[in-house]
Amino acid sequence: MSVRRLHEIQPESFAFSEANLARVQEWMAKFPEGRQRSAVIAALWIGQEQEGWVTKPMVEEVGRLLDMPYIRVLEVATFYTMFYLAPVGKHHLQVCTTTPCWLRGSDEVVKACKKHIHDKPHTVSADGQFSWEEMECLGACVNAPMMLIDKDPYEDLTGDKVVEIIEALRRGESPKTGSQIDRHTSEPVGGRTTLTKEEA
Ligand code: FES
Repeated sequence: MSVRRLHEIQPESFAFSEANLARVQEWMAKFPEGRQRSAVIAALWIGQEQEGWVTKPMVEEVGRLLDMPYIRVLEVATFYTMFYLAPVGKHHLQVCTTTPCWLRGSDEVVKACKKHIHDKPHTVSADGQFSWEEMECLGACVNAPMMLIDKDPYEDLTGDKVVEIIEALRRGESPKTGSQIDRHTSEPVGGRTTLTKEEA
């Protein structure tokens, strides 16, 4: 995976909205006195929901609120790939390119993203609707190749299927998530090969 760093262009400041600050404080109150740092992931997540991505001033503000050194908050933000470190489109595609997905065709998924979103990752498309990036294993190798769009997994992809999904989202539709070939959970393509008889 490429090195995860904060974006080179940053806003001047960050402040939680009143409602979001209340949500962060609610999380802080869930932990025993002196353990408020445990709310760091929740606070960054709420900040990302507000701004669309995690900014440097946000990392500083979360550190201030939770009485954590800046570097400790930064470590969390840069470790977990659910945190976007650069501006993203309305929909952000995280494409797994680790070996199982690569062997099953993730190159075609990446090619579709390059052609139909932007030829560079971490770059918002001209219409502001999409951005994409490559990821390491997202834990759904059995249905490779796969990607996450926002919080939803899309599995058993082909390049054409990715284009269909992008176009559907562009039209404001909600394309079907999960396996795109109607595979049942993680069973072999074509159905079970073992435990085929229901025992009484
Ligand atoms: S290798 Fe792609 S989900 Fe695991």
